[in-house]
Amino acid sequence: MLVCVLLEAGKGGSGMEVLIGSDAIQARVREIGKQIARDHPEGAPLLIGVLRGCVIFMADLMKSLPIPHEIDFISISSYELSSQSSGAPRLVKDIGRDIAGRDVIIVEDIVDTGHTLDFLRRTFLARNPASLKTVALLDKKSRRECNVPVEYVGFEIPDRFVVGYGLDFAERFRHLPYIAALSAEELTQGSPVRSMGAAQP
Ligand code: IMP
Ligand code: MG
Repeated sequence: MLVCVLLEAGKGGSGMEVLIGSDAIQARVREIGKQIARDHPEGAPLLIGVLRGCVIFMADLMKSLPIPHEIDFISISSYELSSQSSGAPRLVKDIGRDIAGRDVIIVEDIVDTGHTLDFLRRTFLARNPASLKTVALLDKKSRRECNVPVEYVGFEIPDRFVVGYGLDFAERFRHLPYIAALSAEELTQGSPVRSMGAAQP
């Protein structure tokens, strides 16, 4: 199920606009956990989180997943310290196990152009998993350049650069319990130091 949420009520005067509140995120993550459990009656999927944006989503998803499962993490570099993709994704840290024959679920914070997910899927498919799916908290579908499948989506969002719930801008704002969009001014004129001061809308 795709859910599109745009809460104007969260508009703040500090270059940030809350798009998805904490309660809505928690409720949706619980639904996704139940859905994944239903789709894996045999249990034991391997969740592979894509560092570092996945961390809060991964932790909440694990608590919402009422079946045995394992976790691992991979790190990909694509955005470096800006809000624009640098293009070709690069493997920074690989997982530490064999995934042959496993039911693998990639856990992403957000799918934007799809290049990162395309790279991850190619990387993992070459290792012969039994199945490979993706769960993404956020989907910026309108920005897609690669036609990649995303089996579980939390929220479809408009073409805005968002932070919070693990997502960052120049390593800031990951701690926010909600998803907020940064204003164009914050993105173009805001230095990382200025942006830091905008953390509480
Ligand atoms: P893609 O390769 O363009 O799909 O980008 C995927 C990665 O870029 C995501 O896993 C995020 O880490 C990062 N990213 C894309 N959009 C945003 C955003 O709006 N805020 C923060 N990070 C983003
Ligand atoms: Mg990511």
